[in-house]
Amino acid sequence: MAAGTRRIKSVEDSIRDTDEPGHRLKRHLSGLDLTVFGVGVIIGTGIFVLTGVVARDQSGPAVAISFVIAGVVCGLAALCYAEFASTVPVAGSAYTFSYATFGELIAWIIGWDLVLELALGAATVAVGWSGYLNQLLDDLGIPLPTSIAGEEATFNIPAVVIVALMTTVLVLGIKLSSQVTSVIVAIKVAIVLLVIAVGIFYVKAANYTPFVPPAQPAEAGASGWDAPLIQTLFGFDQGTFGWGGVIAGAAVVFFAFIGFDIVATAAEETKDPGKDLPRGIIGSLAICTLLYVAVSLVVVGMQNYADLSAEAPLAEAFSAEGLSFFSTVISVGALAGLTSVVMILMLGQSRVLFAMSRDHLLPPSFASVHPKYGTPYKITIATGVFVAVLAAVVPLEELANLVNIGTLFAFVLVSIGVIVLRRTRPDLPRAFRVPLMPVLPIVSTLACLYLMLNLPGETWLRFLVWMALGIAVYYLYGRRKSRFTTPGGREDAAAANAARKA
Ligand code: ALA
Repeated sequence: MAAGTRRIKSVEDSIRDTDEPGHRLKRHLSGLDLTVFGVGVIIGTGIFVLTGVVARDQSGPAVAISFVIAGVVCGLAALCYAEFASTVPVAGSAYTFSYATFGELIAWIIGWDLVLELALGAATVAVGWSGYLNQLLDDLGIPLPTSIAGEEATFNIPAVVIVALMTTVLVLGIKLSSQVTSVIVAIKVAIVLLVIAVGIFYVKAANYTPFVPPAQPAEAGASGWDAPLIQTLFGFDQGTFGWGGVIAGAAVVFFAFIGFDIVATAAEETKDPGKDLPRGIIGSLAICTLLYVAVSLVVVGMQNYADLSAEAPLAEAFSAEGLSFFSTVISVGALAGLTSVVMILMLGQSRVLFAMSRDHLLPPSFASVHPKYGTPYKITIATGVFVAVLAAVVPLEELANLVNIGTLFAFVLVSIGVIVLRRTRPDLPRAFRVPLMPVLPIVSTLACLYLMLNLPGETWLRFLVWMALGIAVYYLYGRRKSRFTTPGGREDAAAANAARKA
């Protein structure tokens, strides 16, 4: 294990790799492009679906507060991501940052962990997309059989189709992807604004009382592995509702914010990463937080929290008022909105795997860039196939928590890493610096850990099994093939690192 932690890839090496012929990505994204990208991936299943479930089962009208808590936790992590991304503007996000600070083993672990966030996240949203599609087809009187579409399909054809389409767009080039995203983001933001602007006239003050419904004891089922780990470990009986429910709700709606960190994975394709990355990351997060709080306040004001739909709460709140035209428009918008989430999650996944194969922790032939389109096409297609298989056959609803725990774990490492890199490499130019060092990253770490503890024990178990598998793969493959082991590879750099530490 020691060797894996000594293999630290210097920031200079990381940046130099981006210039290798045949492995170079095109730089053409601006701060605005990145913000659009961010909003494109952030607004999705979280606000369109989870708002209803969380308000109904955990937070009540205070789901808006759950969004604020999750938004603040993400904001702290976003500042850490922004500093890292402006210092190490290289594809691969948390994976690359860890390689520069903690060494190869942790970098591998985080790369493996990001599969939970990105590939599993994309598959989850693709299944959600299929559900919305079937809802809409149902409205038109032509529903597909539930065995091949919707959220409980045995072989989910629409989910596979959307993944295949998005993979094609990604292979054809990121500029095309960002144009497609711009249109979709415009529709999605317009729909969200429509919900706020129209819905506000149907808000009933009575629906806001009680704002934080009184805590109720946990149901018999919510014990053992189903209960938040914090409850199992420390005996906090959070039950449902009350402030415990608001915080457990925050750990779930956290899903709605996933994606701002993906902006950092596009570092190599950014014109001026030092300025544009912090703008893209923090800008998109700020916009989404405001929209989420406003939307959730409107929706719980329109309908009593106990009556909210678990599948399509935004659309249903409108149809309950007899506004079926708006309801259909919202469903169409949600469908468009989820499309870009699937695409950008897969984009992020392909860039992380790209960085890992460039370091030979995965077969290096994967990292070649298409001569015409300038995209890492092999890895993109491999990602598409993997996500399509997951989306086709795995019942992913329950696995959304696994996406959350994987993402929070990455945030923890990035927050600690920003402190470590300030100590080990104070000399590096940092276009963006986290304020209140080291207090802010420490608070960010603790806040992420706290949300992780609010996820069910079962989620922790799955997470630990996945990570153990990853460590086994590292020792069987990556550790032997890594560029650190190739003659003339990074041995010199490793020796220099060791000498500097000695
Ligand atoms: N934040 C993204 C969503 O809500 C993953 O779908």
